[in-house]
Amino acid sequence: MAQATASRRAQLSDAGDIARIYSEGIADRIATFETEPRSRADVEQVLRGLDPRHPAVVVEREGRVVAFAWTSTYRPRACYDLIAEFSVYVGREARGTGCGREVLSALIEAAEASGLHKLVSRIFPENTASRALCRALGFREVGTYVRHGKLDGEWRDCVIVERLLGAAADGC
Ligand SMILES: CC(C)(COP(=O)(O)OP(=O)(O)OC[C@H]1O[C@@H](n2cnc3c(N)ncnc32)[C@H](O)[C@@H]1OP(=O)(O)O)[C@@H](O)C(=O)NCCC(=O)NCCS
Repeated sequence: MAQATASRRAQLSDAGDIARIYSEGIADRIATFETEPRSRADVEQVLRGLDPRHPAVVVEREGRVVAFAWTSTYRPRACYDLIAEFSVYVGREARGTGCGREVLSALIEAAEASGLHKLVSRIFPENTASRALCRALGFREVGTYVRHGKLDGEWRDCVIVERLLGAAADGC
């Protein structure tokens, strides 16, 4: 039987679960240039400091948080105020079971509701799950930054993705 899942806005009380899921993604070395695990306090600080326009969402399965996605500042210049970066992470035990689609869909909906114009991110080329998820939800691959950052001493490429939101997407 399919397990019941539900998305909702992230709350401070989710910080421990988000830290666990984020730290798994960091340890797997497939998602981010970050290398140090995150603590509950680190995540509480992020959630407390979120710009009111930048949503953060979680997905619960059987009452347990199994995925999160959030937005952050793309660039501090005023011309980019309505562009946001996003991150999406699913706990290891729940990957490949639709939670990524659910949590990123919820983030897109929340970002549209808060008036954002575009979401962007960068993905390691080898991260086939993340690229498939983004493609499935209407993101466009803009191109590849070559040898863009070092992870564990190795230069890594990044695929840039973007998705226009709300009225900005009309006619695309
Ligand atoms: C990337 C990630 C968020 C995807 O979430 P997920 O729950 O595993 O993916 P879903 O089950 O929702 O699948 C979403 C889509 O991607 C496809 N997909 C998922 N895993 C895949 C894989 N390993 N290879 C190819 N396609 C895959 C699914 O078929 C699905 O497509 P569909 O909806 O059109 O059928 C998740 O695997 C994860 O958290 N990975 C570690 C952290 C990470 O890489 N974060 C992204 C940083 S850029």
